[in-house]
Amino acid sequence: MKTEFVKIDFKKPIAEQLTLPAKILSEGGLVAFPTETVYGLGGNALDAGAASKIYRAKGRPSDNPLIVHIARPADAEKYAYTSELYEKLARAFMPGPLTVVLPKKENIPFSVTGGLQTVGIRCPGDPVARELIRLAGVPVAAPSANVSGRPSPTAASHVRDDLNGRIDCIIDGGEAEVGLESTIVKVEGDHLVLLRPGAITPEMLKNVCENVVLDNGILDKLPEGTAPQAPGMKYRHYAPRARVYLVRNGRADVSDFDERAILFFRRKLEENSSVGILGYDEYLPYLTGNHIYSLGAKDDELAHSHHLFDCLRRFDETDVTEIYAVVGKTSGIGLALYNRMLKASAYTVIYI
Ligand code: TXA
Ligand code: MG
Repeated sequence: MKTEFVKIDFKKPIAEQLTLPAKILSEGGLVAFPTETVYGLGGNALDAGAASKIYRAKGRPSDNPLIVHIARPADAEKYAYTSELYEKLARAFMPGPLTVVLPKKENIPFSVTGGLQTVGIRCPGDPVARELIRLAGVPVAAPSANVSGRPSPTAASHVRDDLNGRIDCIIDGGEAEVGLESTIVKVEGDHLVLLRPGAITPEMLKNVCENVVLDNGILDKLPEGTAPQAPGMKYRHYAPRARVYLVRNGRADVSDFDERAILFFRRKLEENSSVGILGYDEYLPYLTGNHIYSLGAKDDELAHSHHLFDCLRRFDETDVTEIYAVVGKTSGIGLALYNRMLKASAYTVIYI
């Protein structure tokens, strides 16, 4: 299959550049598009055939449900049973990096929801994504636009590396701003269950709903035989080829953590030449090696999220066999970052 490329020129009107991709979507084809979180692989959410094409292109198990993307928060009620709490969340955080799981209506096929009676609804913050959905005239089912098991794509080049020749079209709208997938919450009566942390943090959610519960599996490995509520969270995700070890502070005194981390990384680099390091800008002058990458300046948490998946992909292009990665605060968006890093490391944490 030949994949069409559409590079958005932000100096020109967006709608006319999206004519071809919108037509492909409305005719049952697959289009990768930018969102503020990660790139999505979109197909018509009302078309069971488009959903199976998505699973095939990604090599994804079909019991893992797809998120349905809409152009306006109010469109949710066409596809799901909304509630007062949904309205509150929509007013506070949509368009934006939040997915809300609600009971589905009949028009959403079970192949989209992986057989579940619920559907994840999201109105993306990226104007290119919203304009594409509006022009296609259909809701857009979209998982992240990576081959299953690879880090989510935060740039069109990542999508091209994974899916060129397997889908109809890739829209290049620049780098994804957030860099981590959306926060997913499930509405259960008057409370929210956080199924996947993201840029809409637990602290932000608590401003809208006092009752926010973290699903098991966000911070801990689930016991054998139990399933998380978001089926996708059970797969080993975001996994680079090398073994990943997370390096976290294990002492009461955090004030000298950076010195200890630098010493730890230096020792690992001396021991083995195929070691990769994922640290902060401030560490770079003290470390020598071929595969030392930075998440950004130490205090710039938004930069860390923005860079994580790109760094993991860059490691994949090298021959490193072990990656040691620094972990910072786990509050705010730090919780989402830590959750993704835990998965990439298969929950391997070294306390120093
Ligand atoms: O930021 C995002 O959410 C990106 C962009 C493209 O919008 N999409 C994304 O999709 O990350 P995906 O398929 O890679 O991850 C969707 C997650 C999976 O873990 C899936 O199990 C969960 O959402 N999910 C979807 N529908 C659900 C439902 N009805 N109930 C529980 N979990 C659901
Ligand atoms: Mg994904």
